[in-house]
Amino acid sequence: MLNDVSAVKFGAPAAERDINQGLKDYFIETGAFNRLKNHRKTIILGNRGTGKSALMKMLAKHFRTENAIVIEMTPEDYSYDLLQSALKKESDGSWAKVSAFTASWKYLLYVIALKKYQEALKTSFKTTAKNSHKYLRNNHKGSQQSSFDIFISYLNRIEGLKVGPYEAGIKSKELQHLYKLEEIIELLPELKKLAARKPIIFLIDELDKGWDGSEDAKMFVAGLFQAALSLNELSSNFKVIISLRKELHDNIPTLYDDYQKNIDLFEGLEWDEDSLFQLITKRIEHSISGLAYRNPKEKWNLIFAEKIMDIDSFKYIVSRTLYRPREIIQLCTESQDRAIEKRRNKIGINSVVSAEAKYSENRTKDISAEYKFQYPNLINLFEVFRGKECSIKRSELEDICSKIILGDLKTGVKLNWLDGQNEEFIINILWQVGFLLAKTTATVNNEQCHDYFGIHQISLINLGNIKEFSIHPMFRIFLGIKE
Ligand SMILES: Nc1ncnc2c1ncn2[C@@H]1O[C@H](COP(=O)(O)OP(=O)(O)OP(=O)(O)O)[C@@H](O)[C@H]1O
Ligand SMILES: [Mg+2]
Repeated sequence: MLNDVSAVKFGAPAAERDINQGLKDYFIETGAFNRLKNHRKTIILGNRGTGKSALMKMLAKHFRTENAIVIEMTPEDYSYDLLQSALKKESDGSWAKVSAFTASWKYLLYVIALKKYQEALKTSFKTTAKNSHKYLRNNHKGSQQSSFDIFISYLNRIEGLKVGPYEAGIKSKELQHLYKLEEIIELLPELKKLAARKPIIFLIDELDKGWDGSEDAKMFVAGLFQAALSLNELSSNFKVIISLRKELHDNIPTLYDDYQKNIDLFEGLEWDEDSLFQLITKRIEHSISGLAYRNPKEKWNLIFAEKIMDIDSFKYIVSRTLYRPREIIQLCTESQDRAIEKRRNKIGINSVVSAEAKYSENRTKDISAEYKFQYPNLINLFEVFRGKECSIKRSELEDICSKIILGDLKTGVKLNWLDGQNEEFIINILWQVGFLLAKTTATVNNEQCHDYFGIHQISLINLGNIKEFSIHPMFRIFLGIKE
């Protein structure tokens, strides 16, 4: 029996590695996957560890089997560091900045597409796309230029033309020419013909890697969004799919403002207990042979004890998460390690609870890091709750918050984002990041229940009426919260 516990492989916590471990076999084809596959959605929005890269990897695989050209753009292709050093620093503000970035993105994606078609179709490219062939020969011949170089050089052409009022008249024509991508526009009919022969898909993931929160970084992403929206109109066989972390998206004003206009294109990644249970039991099935016909509950109980502290063991584990696949995988893997150390034949209370200590610390720190641009040093706000009771009445919570604002409760470092804010603002942030659960009535699985819920379970428009809160179990052990 010991074998079963140690034989299970829950997989790697990030899709980039998981894809080599078994993701292709145990991937869950969610509604999100199907909508992206059918091009009904083109923008993936999700928190850390919710499965953006898993979708991208599986979409790449799917489109390749459909004989499409698939271009997976990786962070090396768009380093924010390089962006900072490559752009001329100007003092004259950033007029039309987003449109300069948008035009450069469009240019880059068109050029890559043409190059890829040239590679894939070889001689028939020359005949189907004469002008494009000529254009590449004259402008990008055998060049060692990286994608980033192409992007930056176009952007610099635009920036180079931005001048004071005197020359404006002469140069504005040239500028218009660049904004409208006139060199490329005439090639688009050819590009459409090429797409009709062979679909082409860009998959752009990990835009948050190396993110520095600068204005340029924001423009870079906002420009890509605008470019993708417009390129996706070109042909049903020419698609750009982008993923973005939710918190980053909320922080780019131009994106956020346009959100409503394009809401139909966004695929928000959400999980619930059932889908997470499916995700983890599929992994158990994958690693132990002969389980295909067992039901998910049987697969789970082969490895895990029935109950942990009188609670169904899966419910116990999932309640320690914000419903993100990576969290489940992490906690299960760490519990498994403890069980193997202790030579247990099932993962039970001792293994899970001892794994929870490290897990709770990691998650608390990770959540704080996740919001480092929006709410720097968020962990110092969490620390204020150290040693407190896990359930908190509104009056107590308001009291704590007002003491933080007045400086009577110390946060260690000063949290500038709390300047001029009130108690409700702090409560709201703690809710948004998943730290607080609210006691309320909600419908879960078609049943009404009165319980503590978090933002990963329900959306609450008005927190003002909530009278009781509790601290999410994931943070409790690390902060020494009393149950
Ligand atoms: N639909 C799915 N089916 C099976 N496993 C999944 C699915 N979605 C995500 N996972 C797994 O969950 C884990 C986290 O997913 P992933 O790495 O894609 O998250 P992410 O959103 O890209 O996170 P980050 O923002 O840190 O890049 C990985 O192990 C991945 O394989
Ligand atoms: Mg990822």
